[in-house]
Amino acid sequence: MSEPIASRIETEVRRRRTFAIISHPDAGKTTLTEKLLLFSGAIQIAGSVKARKATRHATSDWMEIEKQRGISVASSVMQMEYRDCVINLLDTPGHQDFSEDTYRVLTAVDAALMVIDAANGVEPQTRRLLQVCRARNTPILTFVNKMDREVKDPLALMDEIERELGMTVVPFTWPVGMGKQFHGVMDLRQQRMRVFAGGEDRAAGTEEVLEGLNNPAYAERFGMQYEQAEGEIELVREAAPEFVHGDFLTGKQTPMFFGSAVNNFGVQEVLDALVELAPPPDVRQAMQRTVKPEEPKFTGVVFKIQANMDPSHRDRIAFLRVASGRFERGMNLKVVRSGKTLRPNSVVTFMSQKRELLDEAFAGDIIGIPNHGVLQLGDTITEGEALQYTGLPFFAPEMFRSVEVADPLRTKQLREGLRQLGEEGAIQVFRPEAGSVLLLGAVGQLQFEVVAHRLEHEYGCKARVAPARYNVARWVTCDDAEGQPGSGEKELRRFIDHNAHRVAWDAVNAPTVLLEYAGELRAMQENWPRIKFHALREHA
Ligand code: G4P
Repeated sequence: MSEPIASRIETEVRRRRTFAIISHPDAGKTTLTEKLLLFSGAIQIAGSVKARKATRHATSDWMEIEKQRGISVASSVMQMEYRDCVINLLDTPGHQDFSEDTYRVLTAVDAALMVIDAANGVEPQTRRLLQVCRARNTPILTFVNKMDREVKDPLALMDEIERELGMTVVPFTWPVGMGKQFHGVMDLRQQRMRVFAGGEDRAAGTEEVLEGLNNPAYAERFGMQYEQAEGEIELVREAAPEFVHGDFLTGKQTPMFFGSAVNNFGVQEVLDALVELAPPPDVRQAMQRTVKPEEPKFTGVVFKIQANMDPSHRDRIAFLRVASGRFERGMNLKVVRSGKTLRPNSVVTFMSQKRELLDEAFAGDIIGIPNHGVLQLGDTITEGEALQYTGLPFFAPEMFRSVEVADPLRTKQLREGLRQLGEEGAIQVFRPEAGSVLLLGAVGQLQFEVVAHRLEHEYGCKARVAPARYNVARWVTCDDAEGQPGSGEKELRRFIDHNAHRVAWDAVNAPTVLLEYAGELRAMQENWPRIKFHALREHA
């Protein structure tokens, strides 16, 4: 290594781009991911990512999905090189495997690519994920997909995205026509037109490029679709503000691109924009201090725990985002929470095709550390410094079940199983203030089934999981009134006593109120003005 290590770390950090790809199911996330991988040369064969998705979802039997857990580990983080950059792409599981993990992935990225189906506009899952991005001011790029179909009018789509997501949209490209009359996109910045060519296996960069936005040949060749696009572009030019990079970085503006992922069209513009506009890893906040990504000492934070393929071993892979320094296989690390040391030799990085052994990693990279419960969600790992990163959120569950053990002699196993599954973030467990039946909370239906299955097969405890009447949860806190220390705690106690039948305690003994309807929450907020209701709880 000729370059001094400090400047090497700086160079490596600067070329990292870590982003999540988010969408509603079926918008084209898998297809786009595959095209991005093809462009960067990370995979050679079109269809390989899609084929894997098919094996995951072809069956409605989630146990099959469980068997495929190894596959989902490997495909949930992908690393590729494009131009001078190293891109880490994190998947956000959708469909029935939507879970809190899906949300938490967004805490490990520096940008997000939002894929929208041009026929459907902004859909519920996109909205949910975007709320999390917005709360963290994550920069977002927007790709409007499926322009080769009959879709919504692009101006209406732009309006819808602005309205629904509360961001200013700045089109970087603009479509000429749609569906059978889709002729291509105008690149508003480079001032040229890329002519649409269909075909799934079409090689990148082979389509025709015409210079200029007002080339006289356009009207003749592309007819009324061109004339319409010309009028729209004029409108957009007048109405949309200039792109301001700083506003993109703070999540106020989103550059918008149009294309057709399945036809490999408009994808390269997005990849180029990611490299050019998305930020490299930034400083991260720890309780003790602010940490710069180019600092020499390694630090990282666990944002996801996934049980390993072989249920009989109970190992888990902790997904860690490198926050600073250089990670090297075999180095001595400290788990700050417990003070335990860790010397990971079999660390995995996640490539598109296979899990590979990793030798080194830098800020922005994701590494996987197999362990037997030494690592928990939110853990900070360092070379020795006592440092705790903040900001790993737990999300208020949206679905609830009661859980009881079928055989009372297995109660201990149930508690132990739930504790461990809770640590993984697979489920949230609540202990009601009044009553003894434990409650499970999740944001996706599949989590309950997975938990019941794993309790039985990994902990030998058959559980009765039954519907519970709650649909809304909020963590509750209360600040002290000015000049009255202890008054907050007193008010919170009064609230809990008054609402004992609706209060439960989570895994870290934080009080939570559980409700049936959102309307009840509004009423409660009015009746208890000093109590704060939180949809997020940050890892302490
Ligand atoms: P997801 O990961 O967001 O769930 O979506 P995925 O990529 O699997 O795409 C969902 C469907 O949309 C797929 O069709 C895919 O081929 C199609 N699709 C993706 N991009 C485009 C596009 O630009 N234009 C058109 N017309 N279709 C697109 P499918 O029938 O569900 O699967 P398949 O049989 O094509 O694999």
